[in-house]
Amino acid sequence: MDTDRLNDSGGEVTPYGQTAVIAFVNEKGGVAKTTSCVNLAAALSQRNKRILCLDLDPQANATTAFGISAEQAIEREAHCVLTMARYPLERAIVPTQIENVELVPASARLADCNKTLVMEVGREGRLRTKLREFYRSVLTEKYDMVLIDCPPSLDLLSINALTAATHMIVPVSTKFYALKGMALLGDMVSTLHEQIGATVRLLGILVTMFDKKTALDVTIYRLLKEKIESDFGNYVFSTVISKSIIVSEAEAGGLPVMLREPESAAAEAHRKFAGEVLDRLSHDVGALIPTPSLAGVQGT
Ligand SMILES: Nc1ncnc2c1ncn2[C@@H]1O[C@H](COP(=O)(O)OP(=O)(O)OP(=O)(O)O)[C@@H](O)[C@H]1O
Ligand SMILES: [Mg+2]
Repeated sequence: MDTDRLNDSGGEVTPYGQTAVIAFVNEKGGVAKTTSCVNLAAALSQRNKRILCLDLDPQANATTAFGISAEQAIEREAHCVLTMARYPLERAIVPTQIENVELVPASARLADCNKTLVMEVGREGRLRTKLREFYRSVLTEKYDMVLIDCPPSLDLLSINALTAATHMIVPVSTKFYALKGMALLGDMVSTLHEQIGATVRLLGILVTMFDKKTALDVTIYRLLKEKIESDFGNYVFSTVISKSIIVSEAEAGGLPVMLREPESAAAEAHRKFAGEVLDRLSHDVGALIPTPSLAGVQGT
């Protein structure tokens, strides 16, 4: 199977040519959105993919993970792209310590966007417009994939990500109420689809921080997988990211685990996840998240 192509048609498959724009989204905090996004970027870069990451979280965790300081982020950052109509995306892009991975950094002032954009027409589609302009321009270097790290809330920043994205990945941890918030996410995607033509599709749900030695984790994982598969189909990635101290140690050391501990099981899991992402994209298995059925999974 040719997983190097997003689609076999050869033509334009997304509003950005052949480029998939994937948002890591979950209203729940601490479910490994950033860790998954950053390590996926590193894993894809090792497959010679050119990756652009957009940090849309005022916590700027992805920015830090890529070794970019707050000072570096102050001139070139997502805040400028979202709030200044004439500020082109390319001006905010900085290189990272990872070959083939570039970044639009975030800083704390990104939080202001929720206030400054609120009165503006087209505020939900600001990022989509900038990405489309970027991909239409013959002057800009293109990427194979754009990964967006979202904040843990369905605010205007996440709305911009979901409106711009072609796909979304929802990381969930094996905790009770793991799927709480999914109904809201489904509602939001449907509304964005109806009102402003957003076409984001669910690429998959990634189970993270799984502890196979904990009976509760094993039970929740089984229930979660059964529920999602019976209601929607094969949306749970078969790769499961296990809980591992190596992941947070690598993060504390300022490098994604993919680079700091490339031989570790955690790095291997992220490489497997990258393979699955490419495989899913090549089949374009995603679908607009089916809202009504999601309402029933809140208690899982
Ligand atoms: N597989 C893992 N094993 C152990 N710790 C992990 C793992 N993945 C992530 N973590 C740790 O869990 C914490 C939360 O991860 P992360 O920041 O990626 O979550 P998040 O969903 O992006 O959080 P937020 O909602 O605040 O943006 C971090 O300290 C990270 O190091
Ligand atoms: Mg995060």
